[in-house]
Amino acid sequence: MPDIQQQLAASHKIEFEDLDWAQARAAGLTGRETEMLQYFADVESQSVFYMLEVAKLEVARDPDLLSFLTMWNYEEYFHSHAISRLLRECGATTQPASTRATGLRARARLRARLEDLAQVTMAKTMPKAFLALWMSWGAAQEMLTAQGYEEIARTTRNPVLAELFRRIAKQERRHFAYYYISARERLTDFTGGQRLVRFIFERNFNPVGSGVKSPAEQAGFLAHIFPGPRLFEAFGELDDKLEALPGLAGMRVGTAYCHRIQSMLPPAARYTPPLDPVRAAPAAFSSSRA
Ligand SMILES: [Fe+2]
Ligand SMILES: [Fe+2]
Repeated sequence: MPDIQQQLAASHKIEFEDLDWAQARAAGLTGRETEMLQYFADVESQSVFYMLEVAKLEVARDPDLLSFLTMWNYEEYFHSHAISRLLRECGATTQPASTRATGLRARARLRARLEDLAQVTMAKTMPKAFLALWMSWGAAQEMLTAQGYEEIARTTRNPVLAELFRRIAKQERRHFAYYYISARERLTDFTGGQRLVRFIFERNFNPVGSGVKSPAEQAGFLAHIFPGPRLFEAFGELDDKLEALPGLAGMRVGTAYCHRIQSMLPPAARYTPPLDPVRAAPAAFSSSRA
């Protein structure tokens, strides 16, 4: 299993009080950046509910896992907090992180209850496979989140936003490493877990934030963060990582998602990559095998 002591030693609240807020105000945010920051703050603010849902399951009563969840939730909380601060400094009206979290949750309640019910049932009937799935899902979402922050840090003209997002992305990469190593170990020599992960990912994969925004809103945000071919490149990198997990060869759920959302995007934002013959062959083989 991943080394929890190493994780705990590296854990810290994201530093943001030292940022040059005057410089942030002077650089300002574009309208699109303000929207994207609000989206990120919304998604981050939901982490506490994911933690509450899994922490109540018997299967999660493992000391290392509970330590990780506590640390993870603490770090995620301050991501939302830091982003909200930057928004306020740049003149955007935004709710405090905790108000935002409960308001959003109230709106997503029915969906959250259904997901929770499915989760509880799965955790009871197949605890080992459930944990393998939970870790794989977490790895995918942490990687996407890190990629989103890194992309904005590279493209924004606001140096303070770039610095804050580089710092947050570093923590997201560390979260990813924990989930990914844990998923790999739990899936090794475990055909039942591998089948469940493939089954759920191929039918339900959606990027983080799908409970917070409508599918079209979410597609629009992602296509703005990763314009044109970048969307397929970023999700392709995710697929490469997922495919490398035991038993998941040929699973390209990220790329499939990119194709699926094209029709939801305004025509000017759509992009379809040329067919990759090298990829097409193994993918077809894998779906006929499944
Ligand atoms: Fe985060
Ligand atoms: Fe994270």
